Amino acid sequence: MTDAALATDAPVIRSEDAAWWRQAVVYQVYPRSFADADGDGLGDIRGVVQKADYLAGLGVDAVWLSPFYPSELADGGYDVADYRDVDPRLGTLADFDDLVAALHARGIKVIVDIVPNHSSDRHALFQAALAAGKGSPERDRYIFRDGLGENGELPPADWASVFGGPAWEPVGDGQWYFHHFATEQPDFNWDNPDVHAEFLHTLRFWSDRGVDGFRIDVAHALSKDLPAVLPSQAELDAMDTTTGHHPLFDRDDVQDIYREWRQVFDEYDPPRIAVAEAWVATAERRARYATPEGLGQAFNFDLLEADFDAAQFRDIVADNLAQSAATGSSSTWVLSNHDVVRHATRYGLAPRRGNPAKQGSAWIIAGAPADQIELARGSRRALAASLFLLGLPGSAYLYQGEELGLHEVGDIAPEDRQDPAFFRGADPDRDGLGRDGCRVPLPWTGTGASYGFGTAGAHIPQPAWFSDYAVAVEDADPASSLNTYRRALALRHELQTGESLEWLETGRADVLRFVRPNGWQVVTNFGMEPYPLAAGEAPVLGGLVDGAVPAETTVWLRG
Ligand code: GLC
Repeated sequence: MTDAALATDAPVIRSEDAAWWRQAVVYQVYPRSFADADGDGLGDIRGVVQKADYLAGLGVDAVWLSPFYPSELADGGYDVADYRDVDPRLGTLADFDDLVAALHARGIKVIVDIVPNHSSDRHALFQAALAAGKGSPERDRYIFRDGLGENGELPPADWASVFGGPAWEPVGDGQWYFHHFATEQPDFNWDNPDVHAEFLHTLRFWSDRGVDGFRIDVAHALSKDLPAVLPSQAELDAMDTTTGHHPLFDRDDVQDIYREWRQVFDEYDPPRIAVAEAWVATAERRARYATPEGLGQAFNFDLLEADFDAAQFRDIVADNLAQSAATGSSSTWVLSNHDVVRHATRYGLAPRRGNPAKQGSAWIIAGAPADQIELARGSRRALAASLFLLGLPGSAYLYQGEELGLHEVGDIAPEDRQDPAFFRGADPDRDGLGRDGCRVPLPWTGTGASYGFGTAGAHIPQPAWFSDYAVAVEDADPASSLNTYRRALALRHELQTGESLEWLETGRADVLRFVRPNGWQVVTNFGMEPYPLAAGEAPVLGGLVDGAVPAETTVWLRG
């Protein structure tokens, strides 16, 4: 069978039942950087519509759209000014309806991003809070406190925001508001019933428009319990985040919110699904977000934070399969997203001096000079890790461009950067470079202005080497990363089976091999020595050299 035939002819299992999400491949679209249909340099909803066939040909089960709502773009759209509309620069609600129709017609589900911890400071509710003044019901929807000092001229606490700089901002009347993230992202007060009503309205609004599910941003931070006298940052830092009673993070009572949301999800048929973005301390804490009475599923970032290392991968898989079995959820697997250094690049970096344990981790230098990145090795390892992940039971979350084997762009000029983490000086783990390097608009063609992204250039400039990774270029090469992902996704549909695996003995610490209930096997050689298979074992995905799995390569065998 040819590659093209495999991509389109393989039986596609896209169940309409309530469990469709359990082993889905979900593809994250970062809309402003995906495809620009109207030629203003910014990706848009129609751009995604135009690529619906590309997504279907790739073989994904669902598309998760990062925020496309009206926003001043203080944080790439995660500062939402209106939860129930489309940013006019990205299109209209009618365009959104067309997108849902285009994806559904191809059997692809649609997941949208809900950002409930904070709104934009341009949101009508926050503007009303500013206008209404101290002590008003409007202010109670956000987290306002009187400043310290004679006239409230000092912040209520010395807390730092996630993006760097202070987390409290004065509003000019002696009061200050709290923002975990950028100044333009005031945190909601989830003790206020109006905030609950606002989000129930939003969940129904998108569900009624045919959306199949929701990705919940910063799901672990909504509930807060702030005492009258606020602790200092140092005191906060010293507090245990695993007790469920931290003032700011991963509080047990945050689940009350999600139980309320579950009622809404279950009003629909099939029920709407949700996946929590919860950066919590342990797999056990994460499981709390993934119960059937709550959000149902939670991102597991363990592989994303791991080195390219067989022992680490095996422990992480075993731990998370045990957790999901215990909660009735299904595991999720992620190697890249819009917040971390692309995994092809992570895996190509040498160990950080003095901290070899951090090799390949998400927290390593995004902007390392080219001569410090082993590009080919990073690409090879990235493909091996992705094919390992795609063979696992559970859902796989892919980030746009990873199917191309795309690398992080490290050398974006300061004036072209957009990420508040860069401007506010946070993110020391990325040497202060922020997250723009994984958000550069995709290359669709090997030549032409913005490599086929649009007609008017790209809102973050693309480097010349993007040409090599363009969809059209990889399309023509049967051995490309893109065609390998297509084959893998088509085969995954064909081979998909029960949600478990059994490890097989390999006799090598750097080789993992597992078998799924129907006999589908995945073999990953994390090391540099070829790993011979038994005579007659012929992979359906990935090639052998002289009967052996080459260095840093994954192969699949049919049962
Ligand atoms: C999440 C998003 C990230 C955003 C932050 C604040 O972590 O993934 O991109 O900056 O929330 O909304």
